[in-house]
Amino acid sequence: MSEEKVYPVPPAFAAKAHINETQYRDMYQRSIDDPDGFWGQQAEAFISWYKPWDKVLDWDFNEPRIEWFGGAELNASYNCIDRHLDTRGDQTAIVWEGDDPAQDKCITYNELHREVCSFSNVLKKRGVRKGDRVCIYMPMIPEAAYAMLACARIGAVHSVVFGGFSAESIKDRILDSDCRVVITADEGVRGGKAVALKAHTDKALEGCPDVHTVVVVRRTGGHIQWHEERDVWLHEIAATVDANCEPEHMSAEDPLFILYTSGSTGKPKGVLHTTGGYLLYAAMTHQYVFDYQDGETYWCTADVGWITGHTYIVYGPLANGAKTLMFEGIPTWPDASRFWQVCDKHQVTTFYTAPTAIRALMREGEGPVKKTSRSSLRLLGTVGEPINPEAWEWYYHVVGDGRCPIVDTWWQTETGGHMITPLPGAIATKPGSATVPFFGVAPALVDNEGKLLEGEAEGNLVITRPWPAMMRTVYGDHKRFKETYFSTYPGMYFSGDGARRDKDGYYWITGRVDDVLNVSGHRLGTAELESALVLHDAVAEAAVVGYPHDIKGQGIYAYVTLVKGIEPTDALKTELIKLVRNEIGPIATIDVLQWAPALPKTRSGKIMRRILRKIAANEIDSLGDTSTLADPGVVDELLANRAHQ
Ligand code: WTA
Repeated sequence: MSEEKVYPVPPAFAAKAHINETQYRDMYQRSIDDPDGFWGQQAEAFISWYKPWDKVLDWDFNEPRIEWFGGAELNASYNCIDRHLDTRGDQTAIVWEGDDPAQDKCITYNELHREVCSFSNVLKKRGVRKGDRVCIYMPMIPEAAYAMLACARIGAVHSVVFGGFSAESIKDRILDSDCRVVITADEGVRGGKAVALKAHTDKALEGCPDVHTVVVVRRTGGHIQWHEERDVWLHEIAATVDANCEPEHMSAEDPLFILYTSGSTGKPKGVLHTTGGYLLYAAMTHQYVFDYQDGETYWCTADVGWITGHTYIVYGPLANGAKTLMFEGIPTWPDASRFWQVCDKHQVTTFYTAPTAIRALMREGEGPVKKTSRSSLRLLGTVGEPINPEAWEWYYHVVGDGRCPIVDTWWQTETGGHMITPLPGAIATKPGSATVPFFGVAPALVDNEGKLLEGEAEGNLVITRPWPAMMRTVYGDHKRFKETYFSTYPGMYFSGDGARRDKDGYYWITGRVDDVLNVSGHRLGTAELESALVLHDAVAEAAVVGYPHDIKGQGIYAYVTLVKGIEPTDALKTELIKLVRNEIGPIATIDVLQWAPALPKTRSGKIMRRILRKIAANEIDSLGDTSTLADPGVVDELLANRAHQ
């Protein structure tokens, strides 16, 4: 049993680490017993404040209301840039590695300062003011980070939309948070192919009449449409603005950014993060969980369009004055050893990626890994989905040569930073377990009735008290915030995940217990996918579930009922799959589409997803009780027409 397998902390690692086991225990205890004292001290150590706080924490999970460092003032961009200039102005802040292995560059903190100041003045010149929302739809180029930090500098709220999302998704996000300015690039480049970002933006903006400015970064020089009144080239307008821009003094609870994420119902929601608590937590988790040591090169392979990119490419590392690597490409281009070649080229010490990437590379065998040295690596990390022990072991032994501890970090867009994770110098690891809570995090397991479970148990994962980086609201919909996270188990934050706690108090995340899919580490709501399918005139009804997938973790399985009289054809299937990709983006590619003459429903008309999940997972011997179905015969029909996976 892999659960029995324990990898102790290498003594040499512990000896040099920021936090060893005793320190972890002591600090964790203090963070729970005296949160105000603990967080006040950390906030002084990690962040530069213009004005101190009146109160460390004020909260009520029933309203819900969460306020950290009330009365304090700071600026996130100042903390990520200006305060490092005296001591490390000439040191590299961002190492950029292009999609093309021949392209890379280093940006020093001085250069970062210049670029961000100039970008800030560009935004101001186009009318952006404190509190305004700005949409950023960018490839993985340094300008994406400049744009985020420029917003933070002038107090604008960025809403980064992942470059893989479709025009329709951009439009929805722009409208929901009323962005008037969009920052994009002519094209992105991934795996040698161009991505038409400006064209997607143009299409999205057909439905966004209030957007008056599109700032365009020239990445490829490819052909694009130009809207004279609305579009400005960054390099042209930057030449007309001042080089310096004073950071705006922001309240600790002023919004820093909005990031849309999928939930069990309706359209993606705008998760709102504020400034003080988020930045402190980003910096602190980056330092302690990655045991970041001055001068190291740290690489998180996420895209800045996701929370992982926000917290662990941009805000956390830069707040700590670290050297953060930003990679434009994909793991398999030009070949499957790219990740490890980049590690050697830039002497990467810490490498942080998703289980889905590990599984995909594992399939290519050890060859592409072993032809590289990787001797600079000292720590590995994973995030985004449960990691199966087999992939963990491969990562540990093949990639890390059995030398590097692995931090399996469980967290969410909503949590802003790591929640359950080993600290590598303190906590022995077990393959497949995210282990123990970070400082100040109080996880608990409850049964479906909300009863707290003690000791060894399996249940729904909740958090019983606030931590500094937790989301503060759903943008424009506080009621939804309460309903989604604080109503299932009143008085507690409900994560939507299930977990098991073992005899050592280690947590094992078992995956989502709601209608959210995790496909290659990307969150998708079944409701979103279903809404996209029923847009088609031929579709009467659709139900989408996840099923176990070797590489992606979960695959997308759709059951589609056609309008009476319409014949199911392969051409129609292809059309529907394309429709969903166009509506949401390529991450929403249906893996299996099964025609369903009817869907299994209860007598009150509720779709019984449990049965659909079982059929999709090929667990047809354990369908469970079907007697409450309005028409049990539906199940036989679905079984007879099962689609191949
Ligand atoms: C899943 C990504 C198991 C989980 C930072 C969570 C994980 C969702 C892990 C959040 C992990 C993330 N082990 N599951 N280490 N990390 N998850 O919002 O289901 O994109 O609820 O944030 O990913 O995904 P999100």
